[in-house]
Parts: sequence; C-alpha cells; structure tokens
Amino acid sequence: MSEANLKSYPGSDITITFEGGRCLHFAECVRGLPEVFDVSARPWITPDNAGAAALAAVVERCPSGALQYTRNDGGVDETPPDPTVVTVNERGQILLHGNLTLTGPGSQPHPEHRMTLCACGRSAKRPFCDNACRSS
Ligand code: SF4
Ligand code: FES
Repeated sequence: MSEANLKSYPGSDITITFEGGRCLHFAECVRGLPEVFDVSARPWITPDNAGAAALAAVVERCPSGALQYTRNDGGVDETPPDPTVVTVNERGQILLHGNLTLTGPGSQPHPEHRMTLCACGRSAKRPFCDNACRSS
C-alpha cells in the first residue's frame, strides 16, 4: 500500500482508509452504503452515517483492496476466506480474496485480504489492474 496515496476517514466506531490509486470503480461501496460513500460530498466517506458492522461488510466487498477498515469499537477484524479464493472475471481481471502477501515489484508492506491483479499486461500499475483492460 502506498502510504502517500492513502487517506484516512476516522469514525467513532470504525476508521476507513482509501487508497485512490487502487480503486477500480467496481462501485460496491456506493451501491452498498450510499449514505456513507457519496462521491459528490466532501469528505466522500462519512463512517458515522452507518453502523460499524454494516460498514465493515461493505468494505469487505471492495475487490481492489482500495478500501480497508480498522474497528475502534472492539469489533472483529476482517476474516478472509481460507483457502484463498481466486476469481478470473469476464474482463480477465484476477480477483484475490484471502490471506495475501505480495512479493516482487509492487509488493505490499503488510499482508492484505483483497487485491485485483492485471492479467492482460497493459496496466501501468502492475501487478495491480488499473482498468486499462476496460478500453479493449
Ligand atoms: S468498492 Fe472499492 S474498487 Fe469499488 S468503487 Fe469502491 S473503493 Fe473503488
Ligand atoms: S487486467 Fe485490467 S489492466 Fe490488465
């Protein structure tokens, strides 16, 4: 995770972080909790507009890993599937969901649970997909 590109949105029960360079506009967030994720508002994430558990559940559906959360209320942290689930969607993107440690170029300093990797070789952010595949 690029710390320079990471923004934090603290709430009383849960803090959300957003790494804009990783967002692939799957829109799970704005569809899931529009009262929290509103791209027309500033800040665009308002964690206190929903319960922590509901918000955590929506963040866990962010396939790119752009959204992460930390519970401030003692609630359970994200528990990824084990074994890891690998999905190749119709665009050829590789969606990973599990206990993930990425090594090599673009490696992440901390283990993560959700990533979308480039399979077509055209992403400028490899190993991550950057939606260059959208224009094909
Ligand atoms: S769910 Fe994740 S990848 Fe999709 S729009 Fe929201 S932040 Fe971006
Ligand atoms: S799979 Fe999306 S840019 Fe390569």
